[in-house]
Amino acid sequence: MSNKKKPAKSSKKFAAYPRLNPLGVGRNISAADLVDSALLAYNGGRLREAAHLLTRKMLPKNGFIGMSLTGALTPAGLGKSCIIPLMKAGFVDWVVSTGANLYHDLHFGLDMALHQGSPFLDDVMLHRDGVIRIYDVLFDYNVLLDTDAFVREVIAGPEFQKTMGTDEFHFLLGKYVAARQRKLRIKDSSVLATAFECGIPIFTSSPGDSSIGMNVAAMAMRDSKLQFDINRDVNQTAAIVYHAKSGGHTSSVLIFGGGSPKNFMLQTEPQIQEVMGIQERGHDYFLQCTDARPDTGGLSGATPAEAVSWGKVDPDTLPDCVVCYADSTIAMPLLSAYCLSRHRPRNYKRLVDHRDQILERVKSKYLKTGTVTKILTSRKVAKRASTVGLKK
Ligand SMILES: NC(=O)c1ccc[n+]([C@@H]2O[C@H](COP(=O)([O-])OP(=O)(O)OC[C@H]3O[C@@H](n4cnc5c(N)ncnc54)[C@H](O)[C@@H]3O)[C@@H](O)[C@H]2O)c1
Repeated sequence: MSNKKKPAKSSKKFAAYPRLNPLGVGRNISAADLVDSALLAYNGGRLREAAHLLTRKMLPKNGFIGMSLTGALTPAGLGKSCIIPLMKAGFVDWVVSTGANLYHDLHFGLDMALHQGSPFLDDVMLHRDGVIRIYDVLFDYNVLLDTDAFVREVIAGPEFQKTMGTDEFHFLLGKYVAARQRKLRIKDSSVLATAFECGIPIFTSSPGDSSIGMNVAAMAMRDSKLQFDINRDVNQTAAIVYHAKSGGHTSSVLIFGGGSPKNFMLQTEPQIQEVMGIQERGHDYFLQCTDARPDTGGLSGATPAEAVSWGKVDPDTLPDCVVCYADSTIAMPLLSAYCLSRHRPRNYKRLVDHRDQILERVKSKYLKTGTVTKILTSRKVAKRASTVGLKK
C-alpha cells in the first residue's frame, strides 16, 4: 500500500471559488457582459464585484445610495455621460461632491465648449493663448469668466439672500441652470440641473474650496446675505442616513475618488452613534473606486475595514465591501453601463422635498438620547464623565 496522500478533491478545496474560465470577447459584446465575462481578476475582478454589489445589494429594496465625488470628473464629461443617467434612473439618492465638480458642471449646463486635448502641450503657450488645461481637457479662459459671472448674477437674486445648507443652495442654483438649459434648448447636460429636477440633495463638504465658493465670498463683500450653514449640512446628511436606517432601508456609500467628500459621507454614522448617542451599526455597503493607497494613513485610501473601526461601516457587511483601484474615468462608465442594463429604474426618493421633516426626525431622537457630557455609545465602551482633561 502506498503512503502517498491522495490530493484533495478540487471540487471541495475550491467549492467557494468559481473556475476562472474566461470567454472570448465577441465583437458585439455589451459593456455589462464584458464586466461579467472578462473582468475576472485583480482590479478587473474588483470592478466586477463592485458591479455586483451595486446591482445585487445596494440598489435592491429601495436601498439608499449616497454618491461622493472627487477628482476632476465633470470636466472629463462624466457628469453628462454617467452621473446624469444614474440620477435619472433613480440610482443616486444623495450626493456629496467637491465644489469643483459642481462648478465645472456648470459649463455643460451653460453649453460652453470643453475640448479633448493632450497632456503634452506647452502650458506657457496655453497661458499666452488664454487656454486652461486639466490634464488633457482644454477650454477657453472665458469659460471660467462667463461661468463666474453666471454664478454671481444668479446668487444676487432675492432667493439667495439668506443662510442656507449647501443642499438648498445647489437645489436653487440647479433651478437656474435648468431654466438656462431650456432657453438654450439643451437637456440632460448638467448634474446640478438634473439633481434639481429629480429632487436629489447635493452637499459640498468644503463650500469655500471652489470657484462657486470664491464667487459667493466676493458677493459677500457686496453685501450679499448668502452664507452656508455648515452645521445644517452635517446634521442633514446624518439625518438622511438615520431616515434610511430607521425606516428599515440599507444605507450605501458609492465613493469615487476620496478626499473630504468621502469622509463627509461616512462621518454621518459616527455623528449618529458617537455624537448623538443613537444606537446604530454603520453604513451597510461601501464601494470605492480610487487611486489612493491605504498605507500612507491618508483618508482617501482608508479601507472599509478601517472605517469599521470608526463605526462608519457595519462590521457584519464588511465582507461585501469593495475597493477597486481604478481611475474613475474608466470605472464609472463601466459601472454605470452595468447598473443601467442589469437593474430596473427606481422611483425617485426626492429627499429635498422632505428635508425639514428628515432633520426633525433625527433631532427629536437626539434630544432624547444625546447628552452634552460624555455619552453612552451603542458600542457600550464609554462611561459617563464630565471631567475630561481635569483629572491628573
Ligand atoms: N475651479 C474650481 O472650482 C476648483 C477648485 C478646487 C479644485 N479644482 C480642480 O478640481 C480637480 C479635483 O480636485 P479635488 O479636490 O477633487 O482633489 P483631487 O483631484 O486631488 O482628488 C481627491 C482624491 O480623489 C482621488 N482621485 C482623484 N482623481 C481620481 C480618478 N480619476 N480616479 C480615481 N481616484 C481619483 C485621489 O485619491 C485624490 O487624492 C482638480 O483638477 C483641481 O485642480 C477646481
